[in-house]
Amino acid sequence: MDNYIKCGFGLWAVVLKETGEFIGDCGITIQDIDGEMLPEIGYHIHKKYWRKGFAKEAARAVRDWVFLNTQYDIIYSYMKYTNIGSYSTALANGMKKVKEYQDPKNTISYAYAITREEWKKMKEN
Ligand SMILES: CC(C)(COP(=O)(O)OP(=O)(O)OC[C@H]1O[C@@H](n2cnc3c(N)ncnc32)[C@H](O)[C@@H]1OP(=O)(O)O)[C@@H](O)C(=O)NCCC(=O)NCCS
Repeated sequence: MDNYIKCGFGLWAVVLKETGEFIGDCGITIQDIDGEMLPEIGYHIHKKYWRKGFAKEAARAVRDWVFLNTQYDIIYSYMKYTNIGSYSTALANGMKKVKEYQDPKNTISYAYAITREEWKKMKEN
């Protein structure tokens, strides 16, 4: 709620269109990525619904929303280096790995990113 007030965005609910069931969240928040406060797309899907493409669909929608509605020229996703589902979702979102760094929380974190220019080119093709 605080993020919505301060930033005008935050994590949003991921809801099944057919039933209205709430199955996770996805959205943009400002996160500490290797000491810098940066816009980050995060996602969490209920285990029951894993591997059905929901994180990918939600993350792409958030990425498009960010470039259409904010001034950010680059957006990130970061994760623990072992989180294959998370970095596969970032790759599917058109991002590429831009950083590997020591992170007390994750041991090693990966940061993925897509720029506005890359996004524009991707949309043209
Ligand atoms: C990470 C997470 C959101 C992925 O959600 P999902 O809805 O299952 O992901 P999708 O079905 O959209 O899959 C996206 C991509 O990741 C791949 N993937 C997802 N889970 C995977 C796994 N466990 N192992 C390998 N690949 C995986 C999919 O194959 C797909 O890749 P593709 O584009 O090459 O086909 C989900 O596993 C989750 O909620 N995990 C716990 C919370 C979490 O770790 N969030 C990220 C914090 S950094």
